[in-house]
Amino acid sequence: MLIFAIESSCDETSAAVVHADMNGKLTVLSEITASQVDKHRLYGGVVPEIASRAHTEAISRLAYESLTRAGITLSDTDAIAVTNRPGLIGALLVGVSFAKSAALTYKKPLVPVHHIHGHIAANYLVYPDLKPPFPALVISGGHTSLIDVRSYTDFVPIGRTRDDAAGEAFDKAARAMGMSYPGGAEMDRLARTGDKKAVKLPSAAIAGDTLDFSFSGLKTHVINYINTCGQRGITYNKEDLAASFTATVVDSILKRISAVLQLTGYGKIVIAGGVAANSHLRAALYQYAAEKNIGLFIPPLHLCGDNAAMIAAQGYHELVAGHTADASLNAFAG
Ligand code: KG4
Ligand code: ZN
Repeated sequence: MLIFAIESSCDETSAAVVHADMNGKLTVLSEITASQVDKHRLYGGVVPEIASRAHTEAISRLAYESLTRAGITLSDTDAIAVTNRPGLIGALLVGVSFAKSAALTYKKPLVPVHHIHGHIAANYLVYPDLKPPFPALVISGGHTSLIDVRSYTDFVPIGRTRDDAAGEAFDKAARAMGMSYPGGAEMDRLARTGDKKAVKLPSAAIAGDTLDFSFSGLKTHVINYINTCGQRGITYNKEDLAASFTATVVDSILKRISAVLQLTGYGKIVIAGGVAANSHLRAALYQYAAEKNIGLFIPPLHLCGDNAAMIAAQGYHELVAGHTADASLNAFAG
């Protein structure tokens, strides 16, 4: 079975072709992603109108390119999957309209995919033996969610951020430190040479009987620290602040994972989303999993950020479950 997928929920336009064999083993035949980051950098964040326009300009070429690289045409596909929520509404509509017209023209099943479920499904592309149920933590620029994945298509939210997403906190703290958008990856690099105990910062794991996060206090603390240093005429050490910030985020995430595993009794954890690319977090997770004898599933770097291969992977499971849509399919911001 061949699944063609489109992703356009935020600032990455992506198209992919994934093959599913008789046993449901998934293989990426092609995946091509165009980042718009350079277009948004000037404004310090994603500008929705610019995103929609850039998706519109890129989508046909990317779709054509991904089909060509896979050596197929749209008539060879068995289904067309597309992210239809959550995300920037104008950006989502570009992908949804494209997928709808392709599905109508070629008479193919149209499969709507939830972006967060797609992030989780990135793991199926690299761990063919991974099967629900399991708990998953999705940490990206727009989302921080803990989900009990009961089956391939049954997702029960069990924790979330109450304010900023993990990646948003990385980007905002990085911006306050003078880095350009999105600063998460540069923060990662700076943190490698800093002292993680240099600056004391508040945990993002909310205390008490909850699995929720709050990253805004941590971000505000970083901004206040920078401002206080400025008022006192002190030059703060960027590497130390980056290392302290990163260590606090990592520690908060490990606390939540530990609580989830204890609460649910699962012996494994699945991680996904752009922040899962953080080298310090990955190292800490591998160490934690080895110490506690927990199964850890975390995508390779190229599948952590937004991409259409993960949408095809989840699209396959939605198709198998019969979750298809007709031409009335809409996009939803939330
Ligand atoms: O999953 P993603 O590509 O987009 C959303 O669905 O939001 O995640 C992008 C986020 C950005 O906030 C970016 O700064 C962050 O992932 N990110 C990182 C790293 N690489 C990307 N954050 C921390 N460390 C990294 N190495
Ligand atoms: Zn994403």
